[in-house]
Amino acid sequence: MTDFTNEYCMHTATCGQLRLANVGAEVTLTGWAWHTRDHGGLIFCDLRDRAGYTQVVVDPDCVSPEEFAAAEHFAREDVLQITGTVRARGEGMVNPNMVTGEIEVLASAVKVLNKSVTPPFSIEDGIETDETTRMKWRYLDLRRPEMYANIKLRHVVAQALRKALNERDFVEVETPILANSTPEGARDYIVPSRPNPGKFYALPQSPQQFKQMLMCGGIERYYQIARCFRDEDLRADRQPEFTQVDVEMSFVQGDDVINLMEDVMKEVLEAAGVEHEFPLPRMQYSEAMSRYGCDRPDTRFGMELVDLTDIVRGCGFGVFAKAVEAGGVVKAINCRGAGDWSRGEVEKMAEVAAENGAKGMAWIAFTSDGSEKSPIIKFFEEETYAQLKAATDAQPGDLLLFAADKPATVAAVLSALRLAMAEKLNVPRPGHNLLWVVNFPMFKYDEDEGKYAAEHHPFTHVLDEDLDKIEDAPLECGSYSYDIVMDGFELGGGSIRIHNAEEQKRVLRRCGVSEEDIDAKFGHLIRALELGAPPHGGIALGLDRLVMLLAGKQSIRDVIAFPKTSSASDPMTGAPNAVTARQLKEVSLRTL
Ligand code: AMO
Ligand code: AMP
Repeated sequence: MTDFTNEYCMHTATCGQLRLANVGAEVTLTGWAWHTRDHGGLIFCDLRDRAGYTQVVVDPDCVSPEEFAAAEHFAREDVLQITGTVRARGEGMVNPNMVTGEIEVLASAVKVLNKSVTPPFSIEDGIETDETTRMKWRYLDLRRPEMYANIKLRHVVAQALRKALNERDFVEVETPILANSTPEGARDYIVPSRPNPGKFYALPQSPQQFKQMLMCGGIERYYQIARCFRDEDLRADRQPEFTQVDVEMSFVQGDDVINLMEDVMKEVLEAAGVEHEFPLPRMQYSEAMSRYGCDRPDTRFGMELVDLTDIVRGCGFGVFAKAVEAGGVVKAINCRGAGDWSRGEVEKMAEVAAENGAKGMAWIAFTSDGSEKSPIIKFFEEETYAQLKAATDAQPGDLLLFAADKPATVAAVLSALRLAMAEKLNVPRPGHNLLWVVNFPMFKYDEDEGKYAAEHHPFTHVLDEDLDKIEDAPLECGSYSYDIVMDGFELGGGSIRIHNAEEQKRVLRRCGVSEEDIDAKFGHLIRALELGAPPHGGIALGLDRLVMLLAGKQSIRDVIAFPKTSSASDPMTGAPNAVTARQLKEVSLRTL
């Protein structure tokens, strides 16, 4: 491949490129002044560009007095162009921490292309700068080599995804941003329409309905690196606007989409330099919930949930017995290595349990010297206690944490405790781990709204054998759905879609959508399904999450060039901003 690195620009080499083999070459470098030192009349400056750092030496004997005077005043982030000769560094001057550490460039010409005022923070990796400050001066933050590496990795991953899909005959299609509302479970961002007073577009939470329309339009294989917008509570892995690698295919069944994505992911991981075994394991949703308490299990470590319901049924400990009597479950996790924790340390974990809905957190500690500490042992009959220890394989040095409640609460509490304990105990979670979680239930019961809702989205095809349960036993309906999970994060989700108009109407009705709304909000979809919709299905991967995990970062903000804060604002541009009264009037709006 031709290397265009040094063409169409003001330099002949990058700051990360020169080695001993280049000694004697005349080069021109451009970049930002980083660290400048004056050593006995010689000026040393580390020049930085996106490729790395190179040490430049300015010797008064080799440049004009004006140029030397300029070098004496180099300030951090001044923009420089340096021409000079590559030379080997002297004895004892080699810097093994720098890839260009064996050479330096002796300047013969110095040009200051632009001066910089003092930057608000130092542009280097590993510096603890408050994130809001970094976001306010994001362009400075992006100059840090680590940030460039993240952005570059994102590009590499996106290109590998495109290449893999292009080679498999997928067509990239753009779908509207000014769209209608599509139910993905979050609030919409809405945009007023000037020519249609009182009417609003919704920014797409995903291109779901458009990609299904593309299948109805005979496109057969579609993808898009699509920006999506969701007004939801933000977390480290959630942004109000984010990017999906959105895929849809016609004439497919569930395995086809899964197999395609495995082949695509294999190539993407390879491009990112990550080895992983394929095919990926597939776990039933029910198994994930029972063993890990969540539908995106991090299976790189154990500490699985142990079901004690049958053992503690009717036992002497009222909290457990009552929970079972009320139709609930009792489960525990065994945290190896926490048996010697103080009562205070253990009780601190009860806060994590409470945040996830627990009414309490019973525990038993098995100290490494063989004693047992717990506020609850005294309540158990000897046999029950022996069974409980056997089921959890409790050994000296172990700490058991319990949850007793409705199955969903127990799952939420113990899965959160499992992750928090793994973090506290520094449980090794080596490498990356991908798996599929398949066959989600079609419906869930939304307690707050008092109605059924789709677990994924209402366009998911109900398992053929469960079609007759939609009306009367919705919670028993399975679905042709699959999530791809990476390192405990939901990386992507998809399903085989409903292509039968009648089934679509039944599912929407079951989700409480009125006949009127079925027609008003989903009429276009129903009609398309009536007009020869092919069987189709697809998936969407969260690009930000994929790159975050590959980059080894804790937050997707680190792999997004211009992210938003947890209050959905941009400290750099000040967005969201107030608008003028005139702008509001134009779109027939008034603020309160
Ligand atoms: P879903 O809602 O599961 O499915 O979204 C797919 C993937 O998008 C990513 N994601 C997010 N990433 C960052 N910030 C967010 N706020 C955010 N929300 C979601 C996740 C998630 O797995 N239309 C369906 C897909 C389909 O059925 O084909 C959909 O949008 O990684
Ligand atoms: P109590 O009888 O409420 O004083 O609780 C006795 C012990 O059981 C305490 O350690 C509580 O934290 C714990 N506990 C209470 N409710 C639950 C629950 N739903 N699940 C697990 N442990 C609980």
